[in-house]
Amino acid sequence: MWVALEGGDGSGKSTQARLLADALGAVLTREPGGTAVGARIRALLLDPGTTALDARAEALLMAADRAQHMAEVVAPALAGGRDVVSDRSAWSSLAYQGYGRGLPVEALRRLSDWALGGRWPDLAVLIDVPADVADARLSAAGRAADRFEGEGDAFHRRVLDGFRTLASAQPDRWAVVDGTRPVEDVAARVLAVVRARAGA
Ligand code: TYD
Repeated sequence: MWVALEGGDGSGKSTQARLLADALGAVLTREPGGTAVGARIRALLLDPGTTALDARAEALLMAADRAQHMAEVVAPALAGGRDVVSDRSAWSSLAYQGYGRGLPVEALRRLSDWALGGRWPDLAVLIDVPADVADARLSAAGRAADRFEGEGDAFHRRVLDGFRTLASAQPDRWAVVDGTRPVEDVAARVLAVVRARAGA
């Protein structure tokens, strides 16, 4: 099974991806940046010094990372019988480049589908955290904001609304978990939904 953890910046999904992978004994990976080539693409995408990047170019760089990640990490792991937990996947492109940047969501869905060779994660778990809570967490972390974190509140609200829209449109593919609870509670809830779906 391939599970993607999705959510806005400051949602805690990276922590939850790690805890879920530990609990399942799964391969832990991420987009962007799950491969050596992807790490270079990620650095370019997240660098606040990357200014005036066209939204389509941004989407294509995410897709390039995704194709490499599929070929090099996900497909071999699944073929070898391993479970895979990914910190973000293609739905992040629909939420960020689509709802966030305003590119057409259906075009991004087709682009992502092509990058994935038609094989999407079996389950997406949205770690749902209201924008103001996520913002407070990022400020408290005290580290310099990357190119996405540095976007304004309106952008982050569109992204979060986008994730919620995607989740409610495809309830068989999504589970939504309240990410405002303590870390261990969220982890237990994520594990429970993944086990329930895996057994379904
Ligand atoms: P993330 O791994 O969440 O960063 P961090 O290590 O700071 O938690 O994700 C990197 C950023 O990339 C995040 O702001 C969302 C963005 N992103 C997109 O815009 N589109 C995509 O398709 C993906 C996978 C990520």
